[in-house]
Amino acid sequence: MTERIEVSAPGKLMLFGEHAVVYGKPCIVTAVDHRMKVSIEATNGDSLELHAPDVNIVGYIEKIDDLGKGEAPKGTRFVSIAVRNFFNSFGIKSGLKVETRSDFSSEFGFGSSSAVTVGVIKALGKVFGKELGNKKLFDMSYHTVLDVQGVGSGFDVAAAIWGGTLYFITGGKKIETIKPKDMPLVVGYTGVKAETTTLVRQVAEFYKNNKKVVDRIFDSIEGIVEESRHALEIGDSQKVGELMNLNQELLGSLAVGSKELTNLIEAARENGAFGAKLSGAGGGDCMIAFAPDIYREKVEVGIEKAGGKVIRVKTNAEGVRIEG
Ligand code: MEV
Repeated sequence: MTERIEVSAPGKLMLFGEHAVVYGKPCIVTAVDHRMKVSIEATNGDSLELHAPDVNIVGYIEKIDDLGKGEAPKGTRFVSIAVRNFFNSFGIKSGLKVETRSDFSSEFGFGSSSAVTVGVIKALGKVFGKELGNKKLFDMSYHTVLDVQGVGSGFDVAAAIWGGTLYFITGGKKIETIKPKDMPLVVGYTGVKAETTTLVRQVAEFYKNNKKVVDRIFDSIEGIVEESRHALEIGDSQKVGELMNLNQELLGSLAVGSKELTNLIEAARENGAFGAKLSGAGGGDCMIAFAPDIYREKVEVGIEKAGGKVIRVKTNAEGVRIEG
């Protein structure tokens, strides 16, 4: 029996570039201080025993040999495929006890699936004495996310690993840390859970039917990402806000907005935010606003009055780390 290893990985918020990043464009993502905690110990058995109470999985048991073969419950998939991929990659087989706990609800769209995947693989590396550099950890985690959900750019996996604020290109072709001067972000949750894969497939369909136009939308989003990187780095918050508004219009033209998101975004703008947009796949989940400190409270009250729930986050959070 080995010791129990605990690791934690941060959640994320997409700042600019969602959807276009699935098509080879860059995006900007920041890690947030709401963390996913994963603890793992090896056992003498031949099964994975999983406790993930946040997603209603308690005392789930599956044979290591069967991982990924049957129709496993939704809340177990990222863990069991991460374990399978790690074991296959290193030719290891062992019983395991895995427990996950999250500081944040999986409903927010903060990237709980990628954070849990990264956490499991990082912890397994430690338990079985396999040194995984960040790039290897990224490749194995991203592969796992694709195995489970079939689509995704991997930006959320990168945020969980590197933390901070990243300029990211699809599949990890570029992962660069950027240093925003100031990040006066207000986050509002719509109360509506969005299914990322459904929205990504919806955009894929839209793209298929309107290729020329959508290519131009993606090009414009790319321009916004490049400009916002610069504006963030020099601390031009007014410009960042303007670019958020522009990005939001383009996301609207991809038809990934929602009534709830629009209400919260408008409330934030009306109450002094420099700009606001949806964050992530759209259709629900969270919106973000860039609001000067003097207006923060007003913006927060505005969002709540419009039916949203303000979620306080610290941005630029540390990436995955061993807790003990
Ligand atoms: C979802 O949070 C962001 C998308 O760009 C999908 C992805 O990049 O994996 C819509």
